[in-house]
Amino acid sequence: MFKKKFYITTPVYYVNARPHLGHAYTTVFADILARYHRLNGKRVFFLTGIDEHGAKIEEAAKRAGKEPKKFCDEQNAVFKKIWKLFNISNDGFIRTSSDSHKKAVSRVLKTLFNNGFIYKGVYEGLYCEGCEQYKSERDLVDGKCPDHQKEPVLMKEESYMFKLSAFGEKLKKIINNDKLKIRPLGKKKEILSFLSGGLNDISISRKNVKWGVSLPFDKSSTAYVWLDAFLNYLTGIGWNGDLKNLPNFWPPDVQLMAKDILRVHLSIWPALLLALKISLPKMIFSHGFFTLNGWKMSKSLGNVIWPEELAEKFGVDGARYLLISSLAYGADGDLSLEKLAEKYNADLANGLGNFTARVLTLGSQIGKIKISGLNKNIGKKIKEIQKNTDKNIKELKIQEALAEVWRLISFGDGELNKTEPWKIEDTECKVRVLFNLIILLRSVAELLKPFIPQTAEKIFRSVKISGKTINIKKGGILFPRI
Ligand code: MSP
Repeated sequence: MFKKKFYITTPVYYVNARPHLGHAYTTVFADILARYHRLNGKRVFFLTGIDEHGAKIEEAAKRAGKEPKKFCDEQNAVFKKIWKLFNISNDGFIRTSSDSHKKAVSRVLKTLFNNGFIYKGVYEGLYCEGCEQYKSERDLVDGKCPDHQKEPVLMKEESYMFKLSAFGEKLKKIINNDKLKIRPLGKKKEILSFLSGGLNDISISRKNVKWGVSLPFDKSSTAYVWLDAFLNYLTGIGWNGDLKNLPNFWPPDVQLMAKDILRVHLSIWPALLLALKISLPKMIFSHGFFTLNGWKMSKSLGNVIWPEELAEKFGVDGARYLLISSLAYGADGDLSLEKLAEKYNADLANGLGNFTARVLTLGSQIGKIKISGLNKNIGKKIKEIQKNTDKNIKELKIQEALAEVWRLISFGDGELNKTEPWKIEDTECKVRVLFNLIILLRSVAELLKPFIPQTAEKIFRSVKISGKTINIKKGGILFPRI
């Protein structure tokens, strides 16, 4: 049978530091979408990876007293370990320092040079090493890069340039008519207004950076790290740089990221694809940005919660839940450990945990229940929530999708309080009431599969269906109170 494909990407993260909660958020978000589409029968490819080249990484390696290659190998292991801890179901993991990636990048550079999209010029501008990007005056606040609280340095170098300016108008059109969707719509507007200012050609070579892909037409320079990094989305699914042979999964259905890298993803990235005559991604989605106690989370600012700390405190599923429920569609959000602990107790220990325990305790007293007809009202509610959850996930409103599941849990709590099965003396009547509640609990677990897969699995183990019977076991505590 023909299966529709779904290709989703996260950015390749810089390896100058360990992954922090912002990285974990994007990766868990992508994981939820990947799991959801797999469960719905699509052929899914979920790609994540690391961005290893450039001045910033070279510097970080130097500070650590290591060769860049060795430093990156170690960081690679750290990233993989954390994604494993978080149950990330990625199908591919791309390292931009891998030979296959570098070869493809080199091939693309040659093509662009031969086709006249890369030419030799001089570039002068303010450069922020933190962003690895040239900045214009209007990007700065009090003369500093607002993201890194650092003054950019003036750089002037003979350089190879990419003809970005040739693509501004075309991109505007493509974005305007949603051939390349930008969501949320507010971001689309922002990007269109940014593109209205026109695009300048950019420098794509670095003379003083050794840790990178050398230019095939001038070995004294390496390629600008962003150009190298963008191509991961193609090499990560097996592309070798041959324009006549694009991978099956191309193009991405969704590319996830936050606003910090949205502009480059809607200027340099699609321009590169246009220059190469490769089809564009279908959608670029910019989720909100976390701040921690009001500040951008960044190691250089000393303001981070590490993902493994969160998992240790709240469990892996607890951490996944808290991350996803912290940001509304496209909106930024401020975190604090206190707020997270409150939410954990309210929604997980009390909400889901308590409901599950109550139903399983009552159910396990009976042990086995025959499957029969579902109460109409409960059946209707379950269907309604399933529909709403689907709709929200498809629109990438995953916080809202989760909130729907919690509506079903509250509804279940309400039913439990209304029917008071512990007081029912007639066994037949009690079994009927409990049957409905158990189906409701199973529906909750079904909906939770992409979000908190281990917890869903635990619930299923407690309410196993075999033939026409459900066997009910009391499980352990899902989320101990903090
Ligand atoms: N290496 C580049 C991306 C190249 S992609 C071709 C890069 N790396 S990064 O390590 O800085 O990662 C940026 C991304 O991490 C953001 O776009 C977002 O996905 C995630 N986040 C980093 N900090 C974040 C928050 N504070 N909040 C939410 N997401 C954040 O840029």
